[in-house]
Amino acid sequence: MKILVTGVKGQLGYDVVKALESRGYQPVGVDREEMDLMNDHMIDNFIMNLKPEAIIHCAAYTAVDQAEEEVEICYQINAEAVKVIAECAKTLDIPMIYISTDYVFDGTKASEYVETDIPNPINVYGASKLKGEQYVQQLLEKFYIVRISWVFGINGNNFIKTMQRLGNEHDELNIIHDQVGSPTYTAHLAPLLVDMIETDQYGIYHATNEGYCSWYEFADEIFKQSQLDVMLHPITTDQYKTKAKRPLNSQMSKQKLSDYRFHRLPTWQEALKNYINQ
Ligand SMILES: NC(=O)c1ccc[n+]([C@@H]2O[C@H](COP(=O)([O-])OP(=O)(O)OC[C@H]3O[C@@H](n4cnc5c(N)ncnc54)[C@H](OP(=O)(O)O)[C@@H]3O)[C@@H](O)[C@H]2O)c1
Repeated sequence: MKILVTGVKGQLGYDVVKALESRGYQPVGVDREEMDLMNDHMIDNFIMNLKPEAIIHCAAYTAVDQAEEEVEICYQINAEAVKVIAECAKTLDIPMIYISTDYVFDGTKASEYVETDIPNPINVYGASKLKGEQYVQQLLEKFYIVRISWVFGINGNNFIKTMQRLGNEHDELNIIHDQVGSPTYTAHLAPLLVDMIETDQYGIYHATNEGYCSWYEFADEIFKQSQLDVMLHPITTDQYKTKAKRPLNSQMSKQKLSDYRFHRLPTWQEALKNYINQ
């Protein structure tokens, strides 16, 4: 089975290609050289020539703060390109997995977000990803929208690498303690996406590693597991100014995965251990 995977040079796309190969599929991993998401014509040509049997769309404009200034580019990549890909999937009558984000929510809910909660993004990136979700839902019946958060994988830059670098440079660090969510390890998520392609339980799902933490708690565990001695100070979001606003509550329930008999991912602490051991 020929499966198109976008964003192969990113964190998730890289691990999805590996997971597909290990399960005997023929992934075709692409990045901007083969299929530039700024170019609708190129997207359409590439997909219609390839004629894949499924699409796992991992590529995105992921620079959350920069997106506040590059609004048009962000919308082209995260929404308009998704529309073109979904139109191809519709023409070919194939399933598509679209990876989305906790940033579609505003983070004001007092409890975990479920898939049916109404999104209300508070930054450009989140709004562009929501528009991508809407195109997928409007155009397709055979779709999965998989919302993930705080992504880390071996192929790319992530919070863990940043913390390890900073931990080697500083004795003390201030880390945000009032944003709470779940890390998502791409090597754990990728096999679940392959499972999804093998079923027809289409719809929206939340899929992150199990358990919740603040960035401060995540950093603390990173330093413990990396055996780095750093004094951490908890700070609030207000004390750390960024161009893009971020939701305070990013907790997403994974109950729907269990309800539809998909396996849930290991805890975020196990994910971190696995990542560091690599
Ligand atoms: N990272 C997170 O914390 C996070 C959180 C929630 C959801 N997500 C979602 O999870 C998915 C995977 O994220 P990730 O962390 O694996 O992303 P990533 O590491 O930033 O990789 C994104 C990939 O998309 C490619 N891309 C960007 N612009 C492109 C263009 N114009 N044409 C073709 N390819 C382009 C990038 O290529 P270049 O390197 O050449 O730019 C890169 O290979 C995305 O849909 C993202 O929105 C991520």
